[in-house]
Amino acid sequence: MNPDIKEILSQLEQLKQNFLDEISNNLDARNTEDIKVKYLGRKGKLSSFFSLLGKVTPENKPLLGQELNRLKNFLQSEVDNLSKSVTKKSKKDDFFDISLPGVPAEIGTKHPLYQVLDEIKSIFTSLGFTTETGPELETDFYNFEALNIPKDHPSRDLQDTFYITDELVLRTHTSPVQIRTMKKMKPPIRMIAPGKCYRKDSIDATHFPVFHQVEGLCVDVGVTFADLKGIIWAFAKRLFGEDVKIRFRPSFFPFTEPSAEYDFSCVKCNGKGCNICKGTGWLEISGAGMVDPAVFKYVDYDSDKYTGYAFGMGVERIAMLKYQVADIRDFYENDLRFLKQF
Ligand code: DAH
Repeated sequence: MNPDIKEILSQLEQLKQNFLDEISNNLDARNTEDIKVKYLGRKGKLSSFFSLLGKVTPENKPLLGQELNRLKNFLQSEVDNLSKSVTKKSKKDDFFDISLPGVPAEIGTKHPLYQVLDEIKSIFTSLGFTTETGPELETDFYNFEALNIPKDHPSRDLQDTFYITDELVLRTHTSPVQIRTMKKMKPPIRMIAPGKCYRKDSIDATHFPVFHQVEGLCVDVGVTFADLKGIIWAFAKRLFGEDVKIRFRPSFFPFTEPSAEYDFSCVKCNGKGCNICKGTGWLEISGAGMVDPAVFKYVDYDSDKYTGYAFGMGVERIAMLKYQVADIRDFYENDLRFLKQF
């Protein structure tokens, strides 16, 4: 008996459906090849139907032949499209050249200001100083009063100081940490206090409303101005080299008596005069002096027994000199082209 043509056609339809299901789940190039062999190979699913051509009735033969060829062409073109899209996809998305050199991870560096700060700290640590800290939000008492800064002193002016309330300010210098430390400890004291300070300065090449200072304080029996000079000199040599010279000029600060400002010989021209030192051969660093007995009163130290020296220094100023940076704003703009140089 001849096989039923309707049955054959429905089996072909089923075969097509199975094929379409399989290619829709197809994931990689190897699968595509398997599908091709499975359906179109010599012993594949479709070939077995070709053998039926000789078994159907002569009038159904052209119909079956037509159907088989149509399906074969369809399967063939689907498989071709599939392998093209799979290779394209794997070339684009999955190709990985393991012989390429790796991409090095970028490692950050310490900010230049903090590199200088670290150097200042390590010099003073090696000279026997401890490191103390205090709050950036400071009371009027620590920032001004206990430092013997009178109520009408210009630095208390609203124009110069960031007041948070009548009693609270953003500290305008690191000197309040002197008071905090003396209240906390008894002499002998030898400490530095590094940290941020704030002033209402208009921004220009040498002023920024936030900046860093390092405060220094030494209190003991028999401390003299010569000790102050000695420590500043030792510090200057360690920071800028053996040839640096220092000088003290008389000055005034409410919390020191006598007071001075101190300078280092210019690191660029060695004292001859250049654009950095504005032709003077000297670079101003900051203020210093012997702790005023009036300050000792605020912390209950016996000023007949103890004497002490104090000094300040601006970290930005020192960093600008050390790295010959002309504009303080460079430290705060976070431009990687600048920061990467350090
Ligand atoms: N606090 C001062 C300022 O910000 C700097 C200073 C001067 C600190 C004299 C001191 C000192 O310890 O003795 O300008």
